[in-house]
Amino acid sequence: PKDVFIKDLMSKMTLEEKLGQLNLPTSGDITTGQAKSANIAKKIGEGKVGGLFNIKSVAKIRDVQKVAMEKGRLKIPLIFGMDVIHGYETTFPIPLGLSSSWDMPMIEKTARVAAIEATADGINWTFSPMVDICKDPRWGRIAEGGGEDAYLGSQISKAMVNGYQNGNLKNTTSMMACVKHFALYGASEAGRDYNTVDMSKIRMYNEYLPPYKAAVDAGVGSVMASFNEIDGVPATGNKWLLTDLLRTDWGFKGFVVTDYTGILEMIDHGVGDMQTSSAMALNAGVDMDMVTDGILSTTEKSLKEGKVSMETIDKAVYRMLEAKYDLGLFENPYKNCDENRAKTEIFTTENRTFARKVAAESMVLLKNDNQILPLKKSGTIAVIGPLAHTSENMGGTWSVATKQDKSKSFLDGLKVVAGDKAKIVYAKGSNLDYDAEFEARGTMFGKEIKRDLRSKEEMIKEALETSKNADVILAVLGEGAEMSGESSSRTNLEIPQSQKDLLAELLKTGKPVVLVLFTGRPLVLVDENATIPAILNVWFPGSEAGLAISDVLFGDVVPSGKLTATWPRSVGQIPIYYSHKNTGRPLGNEEGKFEKFKSNYIDERIEPLYPFGYGLSYTKFDYSKVKISSNKMAKNDKITVSVDIKNTGNYDGKEVVQLYTRDLVGSVTRPVKELKGFQKVEIKKGETKTVSFTITEEDLKFYNQNLEFIAEPGTFEVFIGANSDTKNKEAFELVK
Ligand code: IFM
Repeated sequence: PKDVFIKDLMSKMTLEEKLGQLNLPTSGDITTGQAKSANIAKKIGEGKVGGLFNIKSVAKIRDVQKVAMEKGRLKIPLIFGMDVIHGYETTFPIPLGLSSSWDMPMIEKTARVAAIEATADGINWTFSPMVDICKDPRWGRIAEGGGEDAYLGSQISKAMVNGYQNGNLKNTTSMMACVKHFALYGASEAGRDYNTVDMSKIRMYNEYLPPYKAAVDAGVGSVMASFNEIDGVPATGNKWLLTDLLRTDWGFKGFVVTDYTGILEMIDHGVGDMQTSSAMALNAGVDMDMVTDGILSTTEKSLKEGKVSMETIDKAVYRMLEAKYDLGLFENPYKNCDENRAKTEIFTTENRTFARKVAAESMVLLKNDNQILPLKKSGTIAVIGPLAHTSENMGGTWSVATKQDKSKSFLDGLKVVAGDKAKIVYAKGSNLDYDAEFEARGTMFGKEIKRDLRSKEEMIKEALETSKNADVILAVLGEGAEMSGESSSRTNLEIPQSQKDLLAELLKTGKPVVLVLFTGRPLVLVDENATIPAILNVWFPGSEAGLAISDVLFGDVVPSGKLTATWPRSVGQIPIYYSHKNTGRPLGNEEGKFEKFKSNYIDERIEPLYPFGYGLSYTKFDYSKVKISSNKMAKNDKITVSVDIKNTGNYDGKEVVQLYTRDLVGSVTRPVKELKGFQKVEIKKGETKTVSFTITEEDLKFYNQNLEFIAEPGTFEVFIGANSDTKNKEAFELVK
């Protein structure tokens, strides 16, 4: 009946109404979602709009849907999209933080909670998951994804699609997912947003495409084309990408939407005018045009001139109607407009409690000399820094529905968790100091920068005075939320200088200093790592930030997060990632000493500061040597590898155990290590657990020069360890 229903409807549609279904304007206001533009309402009534995005609340969405259902000739419901990227009003950590939990069921549940809240507020389509692999932390959007690894990224991609869509889009709490940004957006040259991407096919297939494919395999309803070009053709107009690969090879059945103004931007890319760009996008496989009106306004002409066929238009229209049908919108266009759900299912105590847990699980303990952490809930704790007493920065990038005013600042959260036995004192200590230019202008992205007008010296003086009687100083520093995310690329990845100056003065007091670090990306932390005894990276933890950070600082939660992107020693090392190739001239010494005519730098070591997979705990895990069930593996057979892990520390804790392989000889060169599995296990104090992994031929496959996915016989090394730097290995042979 679906096919009959859609074809019947299409037979009644005029060309203009068909093109209207391919048109996705924005409501105009990202956070308040005021669809007040008379123009949009008029267009909806005329059947020129297929959906609307960044509109929020049942009342507003119902109003707009009413226009479509009551004024529209064919009563075709609109689809409502939003960037629900890491939670809705209950905001979870930024996706890079979420990925650091390595906890797939938990990540899936964050998407489920986000879907429940967003669908209770009128929304039925999210522009998430963002699965762009990124090996360059200069790129601000690294914050929005799952880091540098295709295997881990694929697991996250699948978990999030399942969480949002929940098996059946017809359910009222299911929200259609949109995997983005297809493709390779995270590989922009020099980490500059929207910049050129130029990559070999073999690299795409092995290192960048798997997470998008994982979403398709999980049944994602839609795909968003990326802003960048691929092989010299903008992704938005790239037929190889959007049709040959996505639909023909991968079997994707949903619809493709452009990114914001993607079609218009093709003009600047240099492919032609609006008509040419729109036709190129449609012919490439785009079904919906976000914001530009290009398809709506130029396709009739293109059709007449033979530049676009009716068959192509009809295919796109069919897909859009099918998405609405699958969402159950024809049965009930107001399916997500239930005031009662909006009142009872959003930002609930239960969801907030979960967000607190998730945030704590995502934090990464980077350093903890002399077990300074966890803190005792007693004595005097000085809380110093521009991120200590603000709720504005807690959600990080794309927290469009977050209720900042309802979130606790770190300072307030600390007071709650510490109780009345500890005395807590506070001073701001410095401004965030994003960047001289923004500061001078006083605004960033149109938002006022709330700057403390006192001099730097005055603020430091106050901080030192405040800390005078403290037993420990918590320096709450790092990036402001706007320093990462879209269009926030940086060339300097250090903590802003005025905050570093403050930190240096705090250290001079001789008191123990703990750096509580906010960031949306891997930073260059060489100075801090050398001087600060304890560093807890909290990312942007979301709406329950204050409580969650405090839970970890006091040891109510033992940290277990591990990095999913490499932290460099210097910007000059970028791109830097664990799964690199070996080169023909690898360094011959383990100490990282410079060697002439070897692949290294004269002024910097080659290894990172913190490797992929790295993160400490308050307890200690001792790994046995890797055990292997056999040193030979026949194709179609499997082997088991395992380690015994003993918790020899003083706390119960969780450990992310990581499995890597190395294919020593291949028809193409192979990475020095590739993640092939991981398990997050809870091990009680004093307990030993055996953690086993099964390896099959499937795990050893890669794309060869002909882009065939195969495993080649030969010797493999297999590593199990606490991070990607592990040397704990065994070897086996895959025999013919
Ligand atoms: O979903 C986003 C995308 O990630 C960046 N450009 C705007 C889109 C819609 O808000």
